[in-house]
Amino acid sequence: MIESVAFPHFDGDKEKEAAGTAVSVPIGGSQEAAMTFCVVLPQPDANVEVEKGVYEGGVQIWEGSRDLVAFMARQRQEGVDWCADKVVMELGCGHGLPALFALQHGAKSCTFQDLNPAVLHNITAPNVALNVPSDASRCRFVSGDWPSLPRLFASEQLDACDVILSAETLYREEGFGDIAAVLKAGLKTGGVALFASKRYYFGVGGGSVLFSQYIASTCGSDLRVDSESVIEDQRSNVREILRIVRT
Ligand SMILES: C[S@@+](CC[C@H](N)C(=O)[O-])C[C@H]1O[C@@H](n2cnc3c(N)ncnc32)[C@H](O)[C@@H]1O
Repeated sequence: MIESVAFPHFDGDKEKEAAGTAVSVPIGGSQEAAMTFCVVLPQPDANVEVEKGVYEGGVQIWEGSRDLVAFMARQRQEGVDWCADKVVMELGCGHGLPALFALQHGAKSCTFQDLNPAVLHNITAPNVALNVPSDASRCRFVSGDWPSLPRLFASEQLDACDVILSAETLYREEGFGDIAAVLKAGLKTGGVALFASKRYYFGVGGGSVLFSQYIASTCGSDLRVDSESVIEDQRSNVREILRIVRT
C-alpha cells in the first residue's frame, strides 16, 4: 500500500518546541560535533508492546539509527556524500532519522517505509514537518511489509533507489530473504544500501554477521556486501554498518 500523509504544520518556534523534543546524535571522530533532530514523542498511553508481524518497534528511536546518522555525517566530513541528488528510501524507518539526515543534505527524494501506517502518520511525517518542512513534497510514505515492496518497484510505483538506508532491521534471520529481495528489486545497478545493526541480536537471532553471510552465499551475483564500520562503545552489543552494492 502507498500511503499519502498530510503534513502537520508548525508555524513558530514555540509551537515547534511544544510538538517536538530535541534528540542529539554525537558524530564522534576528531570534531566535537552533533546532529540535532526535533522529534515527536509518542503519547504516554500509546501501545508500544512489540508484537511480531503486528508492531515491530517503530515508535522507539533505536541506537542503530543514531549510528547510521553519525556514520553518514563522519563520511561527509571525509568528503564522501551518500545523499546529494540521490533517490533514497529508508526501510523500517520508525522515526526516520537517517532519511531526515539525507533530506537535510540534498537528497533528491525520500521514501519512508514502515510496517505500520500509524507510525508513519503519528511519528515519521510529523518529524519530517518539524525538521525539513520545505522538503515535504520530496517525501513519500509507504506502509506494509517487506514482501510487498518488490512488486511496487517492478511496477514503477516506487522509483529505483540510489541509496537504501536501514537501521535495526536485521534482527530476525527469517526476514533476510525479504530484505534481500527488496535490495535486488529496489536498488539501481551500482546503488548502495547502508544497514546499521548489532552484529548479533542475542536472544532474537539475526544480526549483521549472519546477514553478511546470507548475502554472500545466496545473492553473490546481485549484491556485494562489505563491513564499513564497527562500533564498540563498551555499553552495548558490538554494532556494525554494512554497505551492500547492487552489482
Ligand atoms: C527495531 S525497529 C527500528 C526502527 C528505526 N529504524 C530505528 O532504528 O529507530 C524495526 C523497524 O522495522 C520495521 N519492520 C520490521 N519488520 C518489518 C516487516 N516485515 N515489514 C516491514 N517493516 C518491518 C518496523 O515497522 C520498525 O519500524
